[in-house]
Amino acid sequence: MCGIVAYIGNREAYPVIIKGLKRLEYRGYDSAGIALMDGEINVYKCKGKVSDLEEHIGSKNINGTIGIGHTRWATHGVPNDVNAHPHSSESGNLVMIHNGIIENYGTLKKELSRLGYTFESDTDTEVLVYLIDHIQQKENIDLVEAVRLALNEVAGAYAIVVMEKQHPDILVAAKKGSPMVIGIGKDEYFVASDASPIIEYTKNVVYLEEEEIAVLERNKELKIITIKNKKITPYIQELELHLEAIEKGGFDHFMLKEIFEQPRSILDSMRGRINIEKGTIQLGGIQEYLEKIKNAERIIIIGCGTSWHAGLVAEYLIEDLARVPVEVEYASEFRYRNPIISEKDVVIAISQSGETADTLAAIELAKSKGATIFGVCNVAGSSIARASHAGAYTHAGPEIGVASTKAFTAQVTVLTLIALSLAQHKGTITKSRFHQILNELALVPNMVERVLQNNEQIEYIASIFKDARNFLYLGRGYSFPVALEGALKLKEISYIHAEGYPAAEMKHGPIALIDEEMPVVVIATKGGNYEKVVSNIQEVKARKGTIIAVVTEGDVQVKEMADYVIEVPEVDDALIPLVSVIPLQLLSYHIAVMRGCNVDQPRNLAKSVTVE
Ligand code: G6P
Repeated sequence: MCGIVAYIGNREAYPVIIKGLKRLEYRGYDSAGIALMDGEINVYKCKGKVSDLEEHIGSKNINGTIGIGHTRWATHGVPNDVNAHPHSSESGNLVMIHNGIIENYGTLKKELSRLGYTFESDTDTEVLVYLIDHIQQKENIDLVEAVRLALNEVAGAYAIVVMEKQHPDILVAAKKGSPMVIGIGKDEYFVASDASPIIEYTKNVVYLEEEEIAVLERNKELKIITIKNKKITPYIQELELHLEAIEKGGFDHFMLKEIFEQPRSILDSMRGRINIEKGTIQLGGIQEYLEKIKNAERIIIIGCGTSWHAGLVAEYLIEDLARVPVEVEYASEFRYRNPIISEKDVVIAISQSGETADTLAAIELAKSKGATIFGVCNVAGSSIARASHAGAYTHAGPEIGVASTKAFTAQVTVLTLIALSLAQHKGTITKSRFHQILNELALVPNMVERVLQNNEQIEYIASIFKDARNFLYLGRGYSFPVALEGALKLKEISYIHAEGYPAAEMKHGPIALIDEEMPVVVIATKGGNYEKVVSNIQEVKARKGTIIAVVTEGDVQVKEMADYVIEVPEVDDALIPLVSVIPLQLLSYHIAVMRGCNVDQPRNLAKSVTVE
């Protein structure tokens, strides 16, 4: 969380940084700030979004070819002007931006206070910049060495960039536990939390590794050292990201664009991995660990938010098809509950960003107990991808909308391939079922395309329920995780309270809430539990609840009972989540737009949760 951008070179830094911050706003958007060097350092910061910052700056001095910028998701200290970054050292010689949490900031703050320093903000960042300045003055050393020594005293996570008034030709950046990428242009450097602010200027980048410090000096080569003072040769990579992938492309919101991208992103996530004629699945990352995975006594799946929901779908898939016991855990619970893990366990870690702090910590825990970690990430080269022994990327492309959509279906696609492949290798699936699912999976992109054609009808349904105060989502079997995901989408972006429930569990509590005011979304597609779900719908109708049902094309029975129906193509039970989640994403989207909510940047949320 928090987005950082910095620039040093021959261009004006302000436009580069502001544009970059807007691209990174998905990481947090409760306050923003910028510091530019123009003889002296000008710091502008305020509560609110990057557009509020631009307004706040107005016609003030924005000159300077070196600068740093930040968009914040508050951890220490409420979102206000004072707590916004950049933070200056007491002497005013240093300014710094920071993403992460300095865990021992309390102790450091006390120590510095004892030495006579007074602080303006409540942030851990201010403590760190004071510490760097203090060490620099005390030891009479240059900025790089001061940053290095200070970071040796710090516990926690950081991605920082520091700028020094007395030396206007240098930026010092460092990272541990929070991502940081450096763009190398001609006589210029860019620094950012991800590559999106950099992509239009250069494709040559260096991903900083843990505890590395980068020294970016005008007209000098990039220098990298570790905080233990070991010299590192920078590994320059070429970015594969394209500018169009991070722009809205004519859609009103990133979320809508990403919903509509799903036929493509699902296809991309299986492209080159399945061969329909031969009836084979080739997942490069699995091969080396196939025996281990095949012989796993159980599989533990960890993730957070939507990724956890994809994990639940995978539980159904893997147990149903490959007959391996699966446990699905919230990474945040798993890491702290002293779980039993052995070398025979395989852990599948699911994460869109590949940076979620709890998931990363859960991986480290499982690794320390000897488990094999298999990562399913969307962001190539991300921390979770690197921390895993093996893995398979989802190829959803950059997901910018905070509410996850195409990443979910890409995750489910890859997890389906894993389950099928495992089932084939273990001999737990009949040839005909394997071929049926594989063939239908290949058709899913077209089916999703068909569901998207119902957009206008879903928009109409949204207009009827936009003022509801509560929603219930019900599903059974493979549709239960979809019910959870539908409810999560609605609360995230429209702020309507919604609960997802296994349809049969409704009678153990939520049924008490049902009245004329309560819309109930039911996934009632043909397949395994259809008749049971029909009974659940009757229970809701008997209590005057309103039913919005997702049904299979051509359905008759549910159509007669439901108030509104949305059709999806008929597909094998195991693939239902991939098609039935689409209308729920659209329903939430339209309701949120009609309620005037900020769909792409819902309040209090962030896309990449790099704090626990
Ligand atoms: C945040 C995002 C969610 C996401 C979750 C897990 O809460 O807003 O959309 O599902 O983090 O993130 P990950 O990147 O690990 O999938």
